[in-house]
Amino acid sequence: MDKLLIEGGHRLQGEAEMSGAKNAALPILCAALLTREPLTLTNVPQLNDIGTMLKLLAQMGVAVQRDGSVVTLDASGLNNPLAPYEMVKTMRASILVLGPLVARCGEAKVSLPGGCAIGARPVDQHIKGLTAMGADIAVEHGYVVARTSRLRGARLFTDMVTVTGTENLMMAAVLAEGETVIENAAREPEVVDLANCLVSMGARISGAGSDVIRIQGVERLHGATHRIMPDRIETGTYLCAAAATGGEIRLTGTSAAYLDAVVDKLMDAGCDIRTEKSPSFEAIVLRAPQRLKAVSIRTAPYPAFPTDMQAQFMALNALAEGTSIIRETIFENRFMHAVELARLGADIRIDGNTAVVQGVAQLDGATVMATDLRASAGLIIAGLVARGETVIERIYHLDRGYERIEQKLTALGATVRRLS
Ligand code: EPZ
Repeated sequence: MDKLLIEGGHRLQGEAEMSGAKNAALPILCAALLTREPLTLTNVPQLNDIGTMLKLLAQMGVAVQRDGSVVTLDASGLNNPLAPYEMVKTMRASILVLGPLVARCGEAKVSLPGGCAIGARPVDQHIKGLTAMGADIAVEHGYVVARTSRLRGARLFTDMVTVTGTENLMMAAVLAEGETVIENAAREPEVVDLANCLVSMGARISGAGSDVIRIQGVERLHGATHRIMPDRIETGTYLCAAAATGGEIRLTGTSAAYLDAVVDKLMDAGCDIRTEKSPSFEAIVLRAPQRLKAVSIRTAPYPAFPTDMQAQFMALNALAEGTSIIRETIFENRFMHAVELARLGADIRIDGNTAVVQGVAQLDGATVMATDLRASAGLIIAGLVARGETVIERIYHLDRGYERIEQKLTALGATVRRLS
């Protein structure tokens, strides 16, 4: 298994270009299932999760063409509405094929994703919504088996805000008969990017980005070309890495528009952040102080502070001046990076979904283990500032969500090497 070796103590400075958003690309790839015409996507990040999703679609009969960050999908030959356990267990976002398959084929057999390191992550809201739209759904032998003649529009209410739940139900609704209203919908920018892509394919959607999304079903969708939005979590991660090292960086190909909560917290911590905008260009520039001030955070659905940035901020707070409180309200087990940070010398006390972080003056390099995608990012940030060498094990987690991370960090002045 690959490991990452980081030599701490180098200020990050210079420029890096951000990639397309993993969590926008994953549902949008599944949107190709909704039409017999080709869907071309640009700015698709080259990540393991994207590769997994393309393999999953290909074994269903979807023709996949990929040239770097351009992907063309043709689902006219879709003949196998099945998502097998062997593939779904490696990526829970595979559940995003359920809604489109039921809408397009009237049937689907999708393995339950199973839990993952950060929590049980059930899909009961996805099933509840599809059932309300007229699908007959059985959960048997670890699979969700769905069948319907044609979905009909319904008024849906999710018990909690669910990002992929909202995305699945929106994709199911675009071909349903009549109007569907999704209440308590997720407002994440990735949901809006999916809605924009669906509308470019002929769907009739209003309210995406708010907590009430209205969809008027249509007979069929046509092909389109869509550019994936920038990855706001990758962007936030590099801003945190520069902030931790007292650095100064400029991130291009991205926008601060979807990161208000993160930018506010970085400014509270003492960073100077500004955006450069022109009709065809946007960049974010961050200049960090010598030492950050501790900032308390509480994760919540968009537009509040994103849970996917929590581990990165725990690493920042580990070295900041003062004490901070971190409240994780989305997932029940998303503090596993805390014990790994403690191996580097961090002073963190966990009490349920609350972490109390006492900033220390210095971290010392050690061998640590990545447990999930964003925890890996938090450990990298800590390794960039710890004294001496830090080795991060199980970095396959990292490769799922960060494109060419060693190259981008090295270009910014870090000393990072992959050990096979
Ligand atoms: C999406 O996961 C993201 N993944 C996650 O990013 C992100 O952390 C999460 O949203 C929250 O923002 C993708 O978009 C592919 P949820 P998702 O459904 O949709 C509970 C990353 O690192 N819930 O919004 O699976 C659930 O257990 C990943 O890129 C139910 O109980 O998250 C959780 O506690 C990690 N029943 C809460 O809701 C359901 O049917 C929010 O989950 C659905 C969700």
